[in-house]
Amino acid sequence: MRTYLVTGGAGFIGSNYIHYMFGKYDNAIRIINVDALTYAGNLANLKDIENRENYTFIRADICDREAIAKIFRGNDIDRVVHFAAETHVDRSIRTPEVFVQTNVLGTAVMLNCAKAAWELPDGSFKPGKKFLHVSTDEVYGSLPEDDNAFFYETTPYDPHSPYSASKASSDMLVRSYMDTYHFPANITNCSNNYGPYQFPEKLIPLIINNALQGRKLPVYGDGKNVRDWLYVEDHAKAIDMVQEQGRLFETYNIGGHNEKQNIEIIHIILETLQEMLPEGDPRKAYVNEGLITYVEDRKGHDRRYAIAPDKIKAEIGWEPETRFRDGIRKTIRWFFENEEWMENVTSGDYQKYYEEMYGGR
Ligand code: NAD
Ligand code: DAU
Repeated sequence: MRTYLVTGGAGFIGSNYIHYMFGKYDNAIRIINVDALTYAGNLANLKDIENRENYTFIRADICDREAIAKIFRGNDIDRVVHFAAETHVDRSIRTPEVFVQTNVLGTAVMLNCAKAAWELPDGSFKPGKKFLHVSTDEVYGSLPEDDNAFFYETTPYDPHSPYSASKASSDMLVRSYMDTYHFPANITNCSNNYGPYQFPEKLIPLIINNALQGRKLPVYGDGKNVRDWLYVEDHAKAIDMVQEQGRLFETYNIGGHNEKQNIEIIHIILETLQEMLPEGDPRKAYVNEGLITYVEDRKGHDRRYAIAPDKIKAEIGWEPETRFRDGIRKTIRWFFENEEWMENVTSGDYQKYYEEMYGGR
């Protein structure tokens, strides 16, 4: 039985990945989820699997070398899937240091502990061990808006925000371990994800939540920045395929071939909410374009991201499966069915963050 050490498994993509993996492998794998439970980590995301015998949750900070080394000492880990990170660009503009701490130092600790646990006396590694570092397309910088250019694995790194700079640094550390020690790893660089369990600081859940409450929908700048959206389950599947079928030491870009301007995304969400809200629901009266409010632009706002997932398709056969309209419907349905989840995550600290970020809007 393979044992996985998943970091950041209580967050958005990590929890979707854990659900995907148990759905696929059931009792044939064991998962240890290590998460510090920051504002973004939520054990409610894993309620349905928390009592499985082949699942263990450990609350620990990835920067805590002793705690992470102890987990490696106590378990024969076969796979590391490293999600844990500070992930929100706006927060990185306000408080960059925690991004350096978790994303750079935390990744160094994870690499070091895995290396120590897996290395043999001759400097080679125990057979079959693999580390996958989950990263982002933001490391490649920004593409011109009216351009057919895409991010490839060979595109030079050009990060702009403290978040993307910290992720780029963490990628470089992983590369350095592969180059220096022949450490068995892969890096994946993925585009924007959306789906269930996403924290409502990110565009799509924020717009869904605000619209349902009749709050303003804040659009940064002219609303024409482009992101390439991928349904989170497709990302989870890609990560598993890269780890099992990809070539070690390689980087794979993962993307949806689904570029949209932010303002288009907002229109699609509003239309879909209108279609899905039942007749007679009072929210139907106010969920409309009147809520859209243009606000000050994000500092250093990258204009366009677009991934070319050609390599992962050619080598591994992965392709995005979920059409955007279907993914948005599934996501909205999930939010309708999990109103309590949203109420819980938007109480307390979220209120404070929202006030500071968006003022009284
Ligand atoms: P998230 O913010 O929803 O979750 C991050 C998780 O990491 C949380 O559970 C949090 O508690 C945990 N964490 C944070 N600091 C920690 C620490 N010091 N020690 C242990 N755990 C800690 O993030 P997400 O959106 O699920 O992103 C997961 C990963 O995927 C990140 O590495 C991110 O850079 C990458 N990524 C995200 C996207 C996206 O669109 N969300 C796209 C591409 C890549
Ligand atoms: O590209 C992958 C990245 O996608 C991940 O690495 C990051 O972890 C993830 O947060 C995401 O980064 P973005 O900055 O692209 O995502 P966000 O949802 O914050 O914003 C998407 C776009 O929407 C961006 O152009 C900014 C804009 N935006 C965002 C918010 C929160 C608004 O116009 N209004 C808003 O209120």
